[in-house]
Amino acid sequence: MTRYLLLCTVLSLLCLPQAIAQGNGLAQTPPMGWNSWNHFHRNIDDKTVREIADAMVSSGMKDAGYVYVNIDDTWEGKRDAQGNIQSNEKFPDMKALADYVHAKGLKLGIYSSPGPLTCAKFEGSYQHEEQDARTYAAWGIDYLKYDWCSAAKVYQESDMPRVYKLMGDALRATGRPIVYSLCQYGRAKVWEWGPSVGGNLWRTTGDINDTWKRMADIGFNQNGLQKYAGPGHWNDPDMLEIGNGGMTDVEYRAHMSLWCLLAAPLLAGNDLRQMSKETVEILTNREVIAVDQDKLGKQGYRVSQEGPVEVWAKPLEVGEWAVGLFNRGPESARVTVRWKDLGLSGKHRVRDLWAHRDRGSHKDEFWYHVPAHGVVMVRVK
Ligand code: GLA
Repeated sequence: MTRYLLLCTVLSLLCLPQAIAQGNGLAQTPPMGWNSWNHFHRNIDDKTVREIADAMVSSGMKDAGYVYVNIDDTWEGKRDAQGNIQSNEKFPDMKALADYVHAKGLKLGIYSSPGPLTCAKFEGSYQHEEQDARTYAAWGIDYLKYDWCSAAKVYQESDMPRVYKLMGDALRATGRPIVYSLCQYGRAKVWEWGPSVGGNLWRTTGDINDTWKRMADIGFNQNGLQKYAGPGHWNDPDMLEIGNGGMTDVEYRAHMSLWCLLAAPLLAGNDLRQMSKETVEILTNREVIAVDQDKLGKQGYRVSQEGPVEVWAKPLEVGEWAVGLFNRGPESARVTVRWKDLGLSGKHRVRDLWAHRDRGSHKDEFWYHVPAHGVVMVRVK
């Protein structure tokens, strides 16, 4: 016994520094916030970002857990004589913007590319990685999305781990806690090396758009990646489209449910200044968000599928499960979850997370009529 204890102590002493050295300690649950790209594309500036930060607070999003206000592509200006990156005329003073956002108890994110140019053809970080990381830290940046884009012109696909590590190391060297978001569209099996280059999250797919088809194609295709996600490092099926108008609220509820079951980063991609009551309700449903943010940090997966009907489940703390009963078809359908598919037997209590109602105790299974493109999401206790 003593020998065993001694062995355990020695092993943990040997492994602990490595475990600590691997992660930056951030994103212990999937990051939550907002990103400018899905709604604003190039039409983003200092004033709008400040208004979004205001709205994140006044709408109740901040209270629901959203904290990162992330500027995507098109903020970049030219480099000065010393090679320091500058913001363009849309963002007159990044440091002042960061101060504004921080004063609200929020955090500011920014965007760049390992290539010479970003996807929208603005200045990238190629050969300025450490300098740019220092600039971001000096501005007070808390999150970097690093988007492959034109890096394809100067590097091979097999260079990706090395190239992403360059920026990962540079961010770490600044001493400022900066969440590191890898964006290379899920190429080169990024989930296998993302954590080792300092990544807190990595895109697993190409870009989402505001249609049921694209959202569903991406979301329902994430099955199999669950073993790569965990505290500090997450699969990222791209930002949310909720509230952008291309889907119905029923579809947006399915979008939110699926992303939460996937333990996906929750980065709203809409205009927070003008949200319908329904959009706010979908984005701030605390019972659904709690599934995404569950401390166990497990990503959910598909447990059954019959035609257009799919059941997805995510293990939660204290032995509970979150379950999504999805209907991808064009007509309403009955969807059943069988306890044995979750490794459970006997009777279990069911709580409906969109209706905010207890649905009683059920033996062996639970079923519901689910509308076309809809979901019923429950917690099984
Ligand atoms: C790529 C990314 C998007 C967005 C744009 C910006 O397409 O995948 O998320 O950042 O670039 O140009």
